[in-house]
Amino acid sequence: MALPGTTRANEPAFGNGGGGGRKHFLDLADLAPATLREILDLGAAFKRAAPPGGDPAPLAGKTLAMIFEKPSTRTRVSFEVGMRQLGGDVVILSHSETQLGRGESIADTARVLSRYVDIIMLRTVSVAHLEEMVQHATVPVINGLSDRSHPCQLMADIMTFEERLGPIAGRVVAWTGDGNNVAASWIEAAVRFGFTLRLACPEPLRPPAGVLDWAASEGGDITVTIDPKDAVSGADCVVTDTWLSMGEGTGEDRSPEERIELLTPYRVDDGLMALAKPDAIFLHCLPASREREVAPSVIDGPRSAVWDEAENRLHTQKGILSWCLA
Ligand code: CP
Ligand code: NVA
Repeated sequence: MALPGTTRANEPAFGNGGGGGRKHFLDLADLAPATLREILDLGAAFKRAAPPGGDPAPLAGKTLAMIFEKPSTRTRVSFEVGMRQLGGDVVILSHSETQLGRGESIADTARVLSRYVDIIMLRTVSVAHLEEMVQHATVPVINGLSDRSHPCQLMADIMTFEERLGPIAGRVVAWTGDGNNVAASWIEAAVRFGFTLRLACPEPLRPPAGVLDWAASEGGDITVTIDPKDAVSGADCVVTDTWLSMGEGTGEDRSPEERIELLTPYRVDDGLMALAKPDAIFLHCLPASREREVAPSVIDGPRSAVWDEAENRLHTQKGILSWCLA
């Protein structure tokens, strides 16, 4: 069941553990802070090569199926390598190469895959597909990115922040750019991990009202401004993401050129980073455009933690997989 009050307006009410006690990893909002901390601790233990219980292959005999409706480099490789390092096996399904691409339903795919595998990860164009998968599968489901959120990414981001700067609770993170799926997961993370999040977004590209309303109802310390300088001033961490997310343009009537024009004032360059704390770090989930959202001097500079962040996808996926399958 979802935690009381964690279902966001306009979002399906899939909660963790629904249906046969399965442990899904769908959104940070669905999970208690202690559970998220447990998953991070598991990932950190695997990173230190100190697996809980001393078993280096706790997922031997288990198989993960991954379905990709959108491209991926990090999510695909980190889940595959992570699962294998934990002793498990992996099957990768691209939407276009399966019967899904010819119109077989997600519900039927979920029923069949559940007879073969122990856990399913879905990267999807629509959160409704994730809901359908959860409803009809009988194994745990992981959200590997949807149009609405990217919770796996945030686990790596929190791990990276804490490795560099210590506990994130009470600290200040600034997001500048598109109020997209990754921004939504940062909002959920701010509530669950207890940090301040200041988002700077152009008015038409604010995060969805649903997730902001949910955060407010949970007492989250989250502000949205149109001024990136306001957001970044004194921050411990500056985060951005692509201005053109995968699938952008399918659900909105704004052209890529219009998005770029709206977002150009939100580019992270040395001038903006200079307003953050002297030891502030820069994060980006990648893939990045050095021509658009971030200057090469920032992403390739000394304050960038993006390669640790990408590496930590591997360690945190192992935490997520082992928690779901425990
Ligand atoms: N950050 C991230 O999810 O990257 P991929 O799209 O390469 O998986
Ligand atoms: N916001 C980006 C994240 C990619 C990992 C997208 O959805 O394309």
